[in-house]
Amino acid sequence: AEPYKIKSVELIRMTTREEREAAIREAGYNTFRIRSKDVYIDLLTDSGTSAMSDKQWAGLMLGDEAYSGSENFYHLLEAVQEYYGYKYLVPTHQGRGAEHLLSQVMVKDGDFVPGNMYFTTTRLHQELAGGTFVDVIIDEAHDPASRHPFKRNVDLEKLDRLVLEVGAERIPYISLEGNVNMAGGQPFSMANLKELNAYCRARSIPIMLDATRTIENAWFIREREDGYADKSLRSILREICDLTDGCTMSAKKDLLVNIGGFFACNDEEVFLKAQNMVVVYEGLHTYGGLAGRDMEAMAIGIHEAVTEDHQAARIGQVRYLGDKLRKAGVPIVNPIGSHAIFLDARKFLPHIDQDDYPAQALAAELYLEAGIRAMERGNVSAGRDPETGDNRHPALELVRLTLPRRVYTQAHMDVVAESVIRLYEGRDRIRGLKMVYEPEYLRFFQARFAPLTD
Ligand code: F0G
Repeated sequence: AEPYKIKSVELIRMTTREEREAAIREAGYNTFRIRSKDVYIDLLTDSGTSAMSDKQWAGLMLGDEAYSGSENFYHLLEAVQEYYGYKYLVPTHQGRGAEHLLSQVMVKDGDFVPGNMYFTTTRLHQELAGGTFVDVIIDEAHDPASRHPFKRNVDLEKLDRLVLEVGAERIPYISLEGNVNMAGGQPFSMANLKELNAYCRARSIPIMLDATRTIENAWFIREREDGYADKSLRSILREICDLTDGCTMSAKKDLLVNIGGFFACNDEEVFLKAQNMVVVYEGLHTYGGLAGRDMEAMAIGIHEAVTEDHQAARIGQVRYLGDKLRKAGVPIVNPIGSHAIFLDARKFLPHIDQDDYPAQALAAELYLEAGIRAMERGNVSAGRDPETGDNRHPALELVRLTLPRRVYTQAHMDVVAESVIRLYEGRDRIRGLKMVYEPEYLRFFQARFAPLTD
């Protein structure tokens, strides 16, 4: 059961089918564009949507809003040093602010940045800095049915091929994400990270962690990897970070805050460059676009996130939903990950061509069916190949049902499962979409669609 009780609630309202039809039409069949007042159960994202604890809310009152040298910055610095172990910290307004600093500081024109699958904003910042992202994740990652326990491991042979082809000097760092978001919230193993570390050390290639959901990754290492069953989450997290050289963080996930992020590293030269850049783009180096109170809530969030009972309830709730869907035969990505259930839209809607955006259509239908908001993670999210201009056609065409932390109850999960199952039973009538407006960057956020007619 949840290791908390509810002190304050936010009322939600079920809409009528007519209201939802109007809302989704108005939104251009893009769930990002729906007003949240029109949503019943919001599973768009686990980003910034978690419920803060009473201690975090109390922390807001301790905001030291001095322009420089805020006490809350030092609390955050101490917590990052204690739990993540990096020496230097630059706060940012959220994850992409940190990605911007990292990419601008480390990536040069013509560089290659290998990674264990792309994340949308991370790759875009690498590209904007002149780099090319190269996927070096193991093949199992692209197969929704594979039950590999560490589906997000790096394939060292793929990495080695890249190093031999372009030379280690054109690889500013490897981008390593914990519990890879785009493909099911699945972990890498410590054994894989140790091998990666040895490989990279020998070639002076830094490992930069996307630490956004790394505490959840640590949970899976303890559950699945030999030798870790008796270790604390805290020590596993620290071991991961000690094998890397720095991180970007979107604190809006693991760290239980509504806004915030940071860049952290051990190299003083990299730190000084990032610290100098942050004053141009985010704010002074002791607040980086955040209010003092936000940094305090984040520091407290770190202590709460690295607790066993929190993560047990968090990951347990995701599994509860996933098990219900799996038992009913709904095609989902396996094994069940930590932050979301991913519906496999290719299998759900085999009659819809990938260029008619099956995952986008499925997310729109789920909203129409039950007022539940999910997110497309397929052809729309993957964007276009900058060389050819064609859709990237990713192997994974998914709809993400993302669970905010400490927000919804088991009864909400029952409603979600029943609604998805109902939709699955009537899947034959679902039709594809055509894109009628496409923005230049990160198109999935703002694109608009219209239904295809028979
Ligand atoms: N890295 C990962 C793995 C993420 O999941 C996100 C955000 C970011 C970086 C960027 O951080 O949003 O704070 O700027 N993911 C959100 C999501 C948007 O819904 O998965 P941000």
